[in-house]
Amino acid sequence: MTSETHPVDGAHALRGPRLPDFPWDSLAEQTATARAHPDGLVNLSVGTPVDPVPEPLRAALASVSDIPGYPATHGTPELRAAAVDALLRRHGVTVDPAAVLPTIGSKELVAWLPTLLGVRPGDVVAIPDLAYPTYEVGAKLVGAEVVRLAPGETPPAGTALVWLNSPSNPTGRVLDAAELAASVRAAREAGAVVASDECYLELGWEAEPVSVLHPSVTADPTGILAVYSLSKSSNLAGYRAGFVTGDPDLVGRLLELRKHAGMIMPRPVQQAMTAALADDEHVGVQRDLYAARRAVLRPVLEAAGFTIEHSHGGLYLWATRGADAWDTVGWLAQRGILVAPGTFYGPAGQRHVRIALTATDERIQAAADRLS
Ligand SMILES: Cc1ncc(COP(=O)(O)O)c(C=O)c1O
Repeated sequence: MTSETHPVDGAHALRGPRLPDFPWDSLAEQTATARAHPDGLVNLSVGTPVDPVPEPLRAALASVSDIPGYPATHGTPELRAAAVDALLRRHGVTVDPAAVLPTIGSKELVAWLPTLLGVRPGDVVAIPDLAYPTYEVGAKLVGAEVVRLAPGETPPAGTALVWLNSPSNPTGRVLDAAELAASVRAAREAGAVVASDECYLELGWEAEPVSVLHPSVTADPTGILAVYSLSKSSNLAGYRAGFVTGDPDLVGRLLELRKHAGMIMPRPVQQAMTAALADDEHVGVQRDLYAARRAVLRPVLEAAGFTIEHSHGGLYLWATRGADAWDTVGWLAQRGILVAPGTFYGPAGQRHVRIALTATDERIQAAADRLS
């Protein structure tokens, strides 16, 4: 059946979950305005890497491109060992190699985690008051109720799943070990699984991000999952590389389901990810690039009347001029700079915009020149 003849508005098609509109679709007008700038668009509205994939990772990908068989859902033993070593070396975290499970980037895991954990319609999924939109999408896919928690707020009793995210997208807020420990305690008291999205853990600026699995947070990973992505720190967004670890029983359950569902990281990507986890140098180089872009952009924004809040880690500046988010998006679009309104991340973002550091040095400088 072709797409023309498929009854997309028939009763069958209407049975799926109701999902929010894809937020970036609503930026079309501002995108057109920004694109019309004589010196071209500076797109700071999305966190997509722009620097090259490091050569050793490309070589690793190519080195196994002739393997014809199915890859293991659990990944190669070398991949799991590389993840264990990287977490210990970079973050002082000890995990069981059997409890490392590769994911096809982290977004799919975020979206499907409530489903895979057996969260039921009407259950509560707690997410940060300002949050990466996919936490809500994942809850909606199972018909769960979403509760947004301000920092320090506790989840209601009976909550099924609590999402943490430090450094945060969009705010760049970094939770210290005591704050993470308090969140874990509160989630456990509510009976919830904790999922900590740590995809910006390598990118701390004024604060040193801590993993939820660090011994200063908890000595016991029971009921905790930590979610990692190689997209930002290793420029592997295009390869789709991430992993989840933590509670061995929960990870084992995810592995069983993902085996049945064919949620398998391609073998060449497993090789590239293994190489990325074994090498800290390229992570440091990439970090320095973002630090330099941040150092250019932040003072110029402040001089232009913006207040930057939080933003102690991660890839974004969380900025306000006190005006409505969409007015600020429009003001910046007039200058050829596209950013995301804070409302994409929750109602608490009404007066903020999220400004990504993921543009080339040349484009970041262009933005700075226009704002000066
Ligand atoms: C907080 C957060 N989690 C997860 C992701 C998904 O990243 P990926 O699927 O590339 O691993 C992103 C991407 O921007 C993000 O900001």
